[in-house]
Amino acid sequence: MDVVILPTAADVGAHAADLVAAHIARKPDTVLGVATGSSPVGIYRELARRQQEGALDLGGIRCFALDEYVGLPPGHPGSYATFLEREVARPFRLPRSRVRLPDGRAGDLERACEDYERAIAEAGGIDLQILGIGTNGHIGFNEPVSSLSSRTRVKALSAQTRTDNARFFADDEEVPTHCVTQGLGTILEARQVVLVAQGERKASAVAAAVEGPVSSMCPASVLQFHRRATVVLDEPAAGGL
Ligand code: GLP
Repeated sequence: MDVVILPTAADVGAHAADLVAAHIARKPDTVLGVATGSSPVGIYRELARRQQEGALDLGGIRCFALDEYVGLPPGHPGSYATFLEREVARPFRLPRSRVRLPDGRAGDLERACEDYERAIAEAGGIDLQILGIGTNGHIGFNEPVSSLSSRTRVKALSAQTRTDNARFFADDEEVPTHCVTQGLGTILEARQVVLVAQGERKASAVAAAVEGPVSSMCPASVLQFHRRATVVLDEPAAGGL
């Protein structure tokens, strides 16, 4: 695992964007795994800016989301479909068909999970997966005690995650109880992984992921098994290392 520590959150976004842009320059049809949450937003803005300035062409990439909430109606402002439309598809000028998510509204969710795994495989697998980390060490929505070899499946959200994510919903009650998430085994199959974390509130999860034992209690620690994982941190997020 490579760990890069930079002074500010803006530096984290710019450095991670460099890694992503270098990959796309080498392989214009990169299959990009896109995380949601506030952590990767700086990366997306930086990539969009570089395209705007003519320094990067995002037109050939395809994106796969890590996860989606179960049961939110189309267009719900808290859904990851809405997030990726706003932060990725539109600024990257990608047709909606090039940004895929697990179907959290499917009648048969188990089938939707299998379909999503198949879609990733048919695209040739994820070339580069962008990740954030939850305060409890989750990646995607793989909460503590997730199987280290899990595949895309339905998960219940932990109380901690529902509290952390309540800010994206009108009130606590509205936060969904379940999600569909790529598994840790799915994430490990990405050829390259870039995890970003900013701020002191991530410091203990980052320390457990990078220096702790590999344990399902800190799902992000499974990245210690990945051959090409880079963790990009600002100084506060690196405070526990
Ligand atoms: C969310 C997402 C994760 C994300 C994490 C951190 O719940 N499912 O993919 O990495 O929590 O969110 P944030 O970046 O807003 O702190």
